[in-house]
Amino acid sequence: MTGFEFPGQYYEVIRKSFRDVDAETAYFSTWLEKSGRASGGRVLDLGCGTGTNLRALRERGHTGVGVDTSAAFLERASALGGDGVDYVRAAITEFDTAETFDLVVCVFATLNLIPPEQLAPLLRRIRGWLKPGGHLVLEAAHLLGFVDAYQPYMIAHHEADGVLLTRLVRTTVNGHTACWRNEETIVARDPDGTVSMHANRFDQWVLTAPQIRDALTASGFAVVAEHGGFRDAPPAPIGKGPLVQVAA
Ligand SMILES: C[S@@+](CC[C@H](N)C(=O)[O-])C[C@H]1O[C@@H](n2cnc3c(N)ncnc32)[C@H](O)[C@@H]1O
Repeated sequence: MTGFEFPGQYYEVIRKSFRDVDAETAYFSTWLEKSGRASGGRVLDLGCGTGTNLRALRERGHTGVGVDTSAAFLERASALGGDGVDYVRAAITEFDTAETFDLVVCVFATLNLIPPEQLAPLLRRIRGWLKPGGHLVLEAAHLLGFVDAYQPYMIAHHEADGVLLTRLVRTTVNGHTACWRNEETIVARDPDGTVSMHANRFDQWVLTAPQIRDALTASGFAVVAEHGGFRDAPPAPIGKGPLVQVAA
C-alpha cells in the first residue's frame, strides 16, 4: 500500500477541510504551559505530515522535530522551513532519539496507521522521549467515528488556494483484523488549469477509547484529560465526535 505520497500542497487543501489549526495550536500551547513552557518548548510531532502543527507552534516560540514516512510531505514541510524545526523520514515505530521533549503529539488519526500490536511498544518508547512533567497528546479515529462515517464508495470535493481536489474513495473493511482499507484516487486541478491524478492507498486500524486508555496505562502513563476535540468540551456521550487523550 502506498499512502500519503502525493504533493504536500494538495494534502494541505484536504487538511483545511477537516481541521482547525488555530484550535489545535491553542490546545497544544495550553499543555506546553502546563509543562512549564509558555514559550521555548520542544515538541515531537509523530506523523507530522507537511509540518502544519510544528509551523504554527513555532509562531508561538516553540521548536521541535517532525517524523513522517512520506517523502513528498516532508519535502513540502522542509520547503516551508522554520528555524529550530527538523524533519526526520522514518516510521514512528522505528524512529529513535536521545532528545527529550516537553510535548509529544500524534494526531489526525496517525495512530490508526500503525498495526495495533505496535501501539503499546510505541507508547513505552514515547515515555522515554518525554521530559519530566511533559505531556503526550493523542488524537485517534475511534470505533464510533468509523461506523458513523462508513461508506463503501465516496466522492468528496475540497477547494482552497485556487486548487480544486476531487477524492474518489473506496473503503473495504476486514472485520477479523478491524482494518479499514482506503483506496483513493485524487484528481487535482491547479489554478493554471493543470490537471493531475494521484493514488493514495492506506490501511487504518479501528481503535477504541478504552483500548488506547489501557495501552497508555500499561505503558506507565497517567491519562490526565480526555476531550471531544481540541477545545475543552468533554467527549460526546453518544455518536462519533473526535477523541483527544492527554497523558503524562
Ligand atoms: C492523516 S496524516 C496526519 C498528518 C499530520 N499529523 C497532520 O495533522 O496534518 C497521517 C500521516 O501519517 C504519516 N504516516 C503513515 N504511517 C506512518 C508511520 N508508520 N510512521 C510515520 N508516519 C506515518 C503519513 O505519511 C501522513 O503524513
